[in-house]
Amino acid sequence: MNKLIIFDTTLRDGEQSPGASMTKDEKVRIAKMLERMRVDVIEAGFPIASPGDFEAVRAVARAVKDSTVCGLARAADADIDRVGEAIKDAASGRIHTFIATSPIHMKMKLRLEPEQVLERAVEAVRRARRWTDDVEFSAEDAGRSELDFLCRITEAVIAAGARTINIPDTVGYNVPDQFAHTIRSLIERVPNADQAIFSVHCHNDLGLAVANSLAAVLAGVRQVECTINGLGERAGNASLEEIVMAVRTRRDVFQLETGIDTTQIVPVSRLVANITGFPVQPNKAIVGANAFAHESGIHQDGVLKHRETYEIMRAEDVGWSANRMIMGKHSGRNAFRTRLEELGVSFASEEDLNAAFARFKDLADKKHEIYDEDLQALVTDANLAAVNERVKLRYLRVCSETGETPNAQVTLAVDGIERNATATGGGPVDAAFRAIEHILETGTDLLLYSVNNITSGTDSQGEVTVRVAKGGRIVNGQGADTDIVIASAKAYVNALNKMLQPSERAHPQLL
Ligand code: KIV
Ligand code: ZN
Repeated sequence: MNKLIIFDTTLRDGEQSPGASMTKDEKVRIAKMLERMRVDVIEAGFPIASPGDFEAVRAVARAVKDSTVCGLARAADADIDRVGEAIKDAASGRIHTFIATSPIHMKMKLRLEPEQVLERAVEAVRRARRWTDDVEFSAEDAGRSELDFLCRITEAVIAAGARTINIPDTVGYNVPDQFAHTIRSLIERVPNADQAIFSVHCHNDLGLAVANSLAAVLAGVRQVECTINGLGERAGNASLEEIVMAVRTRRDVFQLETGIDTTQIVPVSRLVANITGFPVQPNKAIVGANAFAHESGIHQDGVLKHRETYEIMRAEDVGWSANRMIMGKHSGRNAFRTRLEELGVSFASEEDLNAAFARFKDLADKKHEIYDEDLQALVTDANLAAVNERVKLRYLRVCSETGETPNAQVTLAVDGIERNATATGGGPVDAAFRAIEHILETGTDLLLYSVNNITSGTDSQGEVTVRVAKGGRIVNGQGADTDIVIASAKAYVNALNKMLQPSERAHPQLL
């Protein structure tokens, strides 16, 4: 009872962030890192959504041995059987089924009476139990549901065999006291509550996801659903790193342990940011670049005299200092491979390793000290180029001069055929993007363009994220290079490549 189960849903709810969708291989890479970090449960996806989602959940179930692998299903036979198939090879597999229980969702979305919802929930849990003993039930929009109904449905699904009861604040509407009251009442009032573990899943619409989750922990839940970097639908989910470090740093308050190896937090955060194209804001707790940086003289002086004056956690405990390993042009292939393996990146073949190592040597010629962040960007970038991309950036020349209009000359290989274009623009990046769009004519809108330097110094690699939209579909693209105009062009081409691929995904809560 003094263990808090950490359920990570980066690969499912996190993936519902606009443009954050991941390939099967990317999911496996993140899942292996989550396993190494000793996450208890990894929710790997929503298998009914598409054949690709099914394959990704199955691949994660096969690759992960030490964490439970879970798939999401609506309370419907086809969904549940699809998850059952996807997780059947897992060392430990869970089916997570859900149905909405709030008056507004039942009436307006499901068009069902509460009794029908209860019946479907019970049937879904029974069906899931045919596949596995480890069944979780979620009362979607529990945060706006009536307590009496929540108690009845909870009792019924526990009786039907659910071993975990998840209480989501789906729309991030609750405040900590009220949410804790709901949890306490449920645990007290449901007669068979002792036969299940209670869990919460909080969204961050009012910035309260972590506060609500922690209030629920104090009220008795023993599982928290969360995501790396707080990624997730709309404003995101409760952030794993904040929950874990709050429980650990304030053991005096929570009197609970998680099984998490906290030194893996920063490497996992970076991997997720790289793969999804959602950079971490610098002032983000725990994993932001400034989370342990002391700017004011008074603080710096205090920390130098006695660290605890201004620091409640040690940077190295969450993986910051462990990542300070520097490589350079004299580093060998073995050191390169070993460090990347420590960062959760392995290579499918010697060829892939050689290609990535050649890129590393190129980078080392331009930049003397190569940090973990550079390695991760380099490998992500290499992977991006390796994905079956229809469009490849072959050549880019940009002229930018005071008093002159910038112009760009671009060569792309489109389905293997080289095509050229030139364009002018408000700046060098604008000119490059216009030239690329001239060739591809995708008609997409650019929603976001952001540049981060991966490490410090003017020889640092620039990491560019772009988000483009067309017909309601949103995708992210990323590129890294010591030349930020080239990084920008790579990111734009990467996003357009994704846009050119068909999307057949469905969203769990919109069906
Ligand atoms: O936010 C939510 O309610 C969910 C459920 C499917 C657990 O993501
Ligand atoms: Zn959610």
